[in-house]
Order: sequence, then structure tokens, then C-alpha cells
Amino acid sequence: MTNILAFVSIKGGVGKTTLALETASSLVNDFDKKVLLVDANFSAPNLGLYLDLTNETTLHDALSGTLLHNAIYESHGIDVVPASMYYHDEVDPFKLKKILNKYKSRYDFIILDSSPNYEELKPVIAAADKIFLVTSPDNVTLTTTLKAAKIAREQNTPIEGIIVNRIRSPRHEFNTNEIEIISDIPVMAKIHDHKKMAQALNYKTPITLLDSTNTISREIKRFASAICGSPEEEGWFQKLLPLKNILQKEKVNRQFMREKFYESQV
Ligand SMILES: Nc1ncnc2c1ncn2[C@@H]1O[C@H](COP(=O)(O)OP(=O)(O)O)[C@@H](O)[C@H]1O
Ligand SMILES: [Mg+2]
Repeated sequence: MTNILAFVSIKGGVGKTTLALETASSLVNDFDKKVLLVDANFSAPNLGLYLDLTNETTLHDALSGTLLHNAIYESHGIDVVPASMYYHDEVDPFKLKKILNKYKSRYDFIILDSSPNYEELKPVIAAADKIFLVTSPDNVTLTTTLKAAKIAREQNTPIEGIIVNRIRSPRHEFNTNEIEIISDIPVMAKIHDHKKMAQALNYKTPITLLDSTNTISREIKRFASAICGSPEEEGWFQKLLPLKNILQKEKVNRQFMREKFYESQV
């Protein structure tokens, strides 16, 4: 069954666009899945800029009645729907759910990037089957991000997990346990702040393709493997220290998510 997954937070700069793109790229290029990646940041879209797409027809046109098919562009194996930077007509973002539901049968996953704006998030969360919250591990960002969890709970959209991104100084930041206690949501991936992301942005290429052995790429691949029910690759370190696997909370959480995926397929 195809799932629509949204990456959300009520904070800019935490990595929503990056993680939506990298997860889509990993699902396509590491796991051979068919993915539609949609820029549902209606007022300040970024995906087109990340991928250097010249968007003649966009999600905004689809929301105004044009066939979504005309707004799909291929990039790095992913089918991408950019949004318009310059749209002036009124569109109804709540049409998103109906439009995307028609495309579910053509894809293994539909992934939504989103805006940090509270009102703009509502139609995205309404369109999603599940959401992932994206936060960095500090009090300010986590507190703000959890406002998105509130919208999801009001709409009965399941929150599948939190991705902790841009970890800079673990000694001064929340650890996994603290984040789970504060949010009551499982942490699914932990991604460090890495200067290589600047290169990926500059080359308009996902880091998972640019440098597959980078620590960010490896964590995203582990996260994507759990989403699509594939086994997690063991590094030499994990093979040497099996106890570390049990202690790594996010790995245990991913295994639960993987098993839920198997169950949803039977
Ligand atoms: N783990 C990371 N390490 C370093 N830079 C990152 C990381 N994640 C995201 N970035 C950078 O942070 C900036 C904001 O990311 P973006 O995905 O656009 O955030 P959002 O969509 O939440 O506003 C971009 O320049 C991106 O390349
Ligand atoms: Mg963004």
C-alpha cells in the first residue's frame, strides 16, 4: 500500500527539504522504489532550487485544475513536483489530498516537503498518511517543532517518528532519551551537522548520491531502509559490538517501523 509521508516542523532551516529530498533519493537509488516528491511549501518553495528545475508547470497549476502529470519532472531518478515561486492566483491547498490520492497507484511512496508556516502545514498534514517531525536537538527548535505534532494529533494523522538533524554539540544538546521523553515520539534517525551538505547544495545533488559513504548518507539509508521494509545494513563496528545495536534507541525504533511496514503489506 502506497503511503504519503510528510516531513514537517514549524521551524525553518531544520532540514525538512533536505530530508524529504535525501529520503526520496535513497528510496529510489538505494532501494529501487518509485517515488513522487512534492514541494508542498506553497508560499516559499525550495525543491526546484535544490534540484535546478525550471518549473513551467507546477503544483500550483495542478491545484488550479491542470493535470498533475504535467507538473512532474524527473531528477536523479525521482519524479518531482515543484511549486511556483511566482503564483498570484488563489489556490486551495486542501485539494492536495485528492490530487495525490489519484497518483498513489503509480508510486511506492509519495513524499511531501512542507512549509514551516502553521496554516500552510494543515493541508499538508491532511494530505499525509503519516508524518515525520524534523528538529534539531535544542530546546527552542524542539518546542517549536512540537506545535506541528499538535496539528497532526488534531487531524488524527499518525506521527511516525522524529528525525533529529543538525546535531552539533551533543554535550550541550538533548540526547535521544530526552527528546523521546519530552515529545513522546520515537526518534528514527540522528543526523550530524556536516559541511559536506554545502557541497551537495552547490552541486544540486543529494548527498546520498554525491557521497554514499558520508555519515549523513549512511544514516539516511538506514532510515529509508526502515520505511520500505528492507533490512538494515550492518557496519563493521556493529558486527564487532552487537550490544551497541540494542543500546541504540533509534535503531530499535527503526526495526519497529520496518516490522509495521511488513504487517501493512500482508
Ligand atoms: N545535517 C546537515 N548538516 C549541514 N547542513 C544541513 C544539514 N541539514 C540541512 N542542512 C542545510 O541547512 C539549510 C536548511 O535546510 P533545509 O532543508 O532547506 O531546511 P528547511 O526545509 O527545514 O527550511 C540548507 O542549507 C541545508 O543544506
Ligand atoms: Mg524547506
